[in-house]
Amino acid sequence: MARNGKVTVVGAGFYGSTTAQRLAEYDIFEEVVLTDIVAGKPEGLALDMNQSRSIEGFETRVNGRTTGLGGEGYEAIADSDIVVITAGLPRKPGMSRMDLIEVNAKIVRQVSENVAKHAPGAVVIVVSNPLDEMTALAQLATGFPKHRVMGQAGMLDTARFTNFVAAKLGVPIASVQTLTLGSHGDTMVPVPSRCTVDGKPLTDLLAADEVEDLVVRTRNGGAEIVGLLKTGSAYYAPSAAAARMARAVIEDSGAVLPVCAWVDGEYGISGVYLGVEAEIGRTGVRKVVETALTDSERASLLGAAEAVRAKQADVQSL
Ligand code: NAI
Ligand code: 2OP
Repeated sequence: MARNGKVTVVGAGFYGSTTAQRLAEYDIFEEVVLTDIVAGKPEGLALDMNQSRSIEGFETRVNGRTTGLGGEGYEAIADSDIVVITAGLPRKPGMSRMDLIEVNAKIVRQVSENVAKHAPGAVVIVVSNPLDEMTALAQLATGFPKHRVMGQAGMLDTARFTNFVAAKLGVPIASVQTLTLGSHGDTMVPVPSRCTVDGKPLTDLLAADEVEDLVVRTRNGGAEIVGLLKTGSAYYAPSAAAARMARAVIEDSGAVLPVCAWVDGEYGISGVYLGVEAEIGRTGVRKVVETALTDSERASLLGAAEAVRAKQADVQSL
């Protein structure tokens, strides 16, 4: 089987390490590089993952490398096709994603500058929180074209919505289609008008207040898990989402996925990174794909755009 490409995951915490493992187990990349500033952590995790190769049956090599704040060790990511940025603090119970903005902005800026230097042709997938703002900052700090920098949130939020609908109705997960747009935060926009179960509109199967309960639970999906874990945040579903985005890039698949992408006129919105559906390929975001929305969903999306626009302007100075 032909393997091609090099994907780097920056940050070997829960999100980064599970993403690296998923990417390696796809067995489609030549190399997965995993980095972190904690000495020995990425090397140890990479060794562990490589030792699973004979059991799981994959040939992709995982290369762990400790990096320094001065950029030491970044030569390991040279010429990566894709870089997934997971470096940064997760939230604790009671914290909003926005509470992380100052500390994570410093980390994402430092990482992005090194990515630009060592992997200037990469497609960047940001996951550090607050997601929409860190995606905007990574684009600024790398100087990459906007289509080559995107964020992961919509796939996760959509997967959560899908899971809640399937559990509520007691139906197979594969029969459910949902969608969330907007921000990865308070102005997340789950889109009930785009939700179906075996092709039937969700709004025909559940009462309006039941749909609203699922929308609210989706919007609070990350906080619900943070509250249960008490330390750290979710990583199994998040890493599945980021890994799928990386796969769509390396395979140049053209899959239409909900991602955080630069919006330039679609929905009448311009000049902001926002959760929308987009066609993903080897160049990153090939194009934003507009979907039909109800008036109230469209109004919520416009509200989300204005909320994140204000915060994205702030990150320029962080
Ligand atoms: P974690 O604390 O387990 O791992 C973070 C890792 O980043 C640590 O190993 C740390 O040493 C490393 N790190 C810190 N500064 C670094 C630097 N300058 N260079 C390289 N590595 C550095 O946290 P976890 O659970 O992996 O989450 C990572 C980020 O992802 C958090 O900001 C979290 O909020 C976010 N997240 C985003 C989601 C999304 O849907 N976009 C979902 C879940 C988490
Ligand atoms: C999540 O949604 C905390 O953003 C993270 O799980």
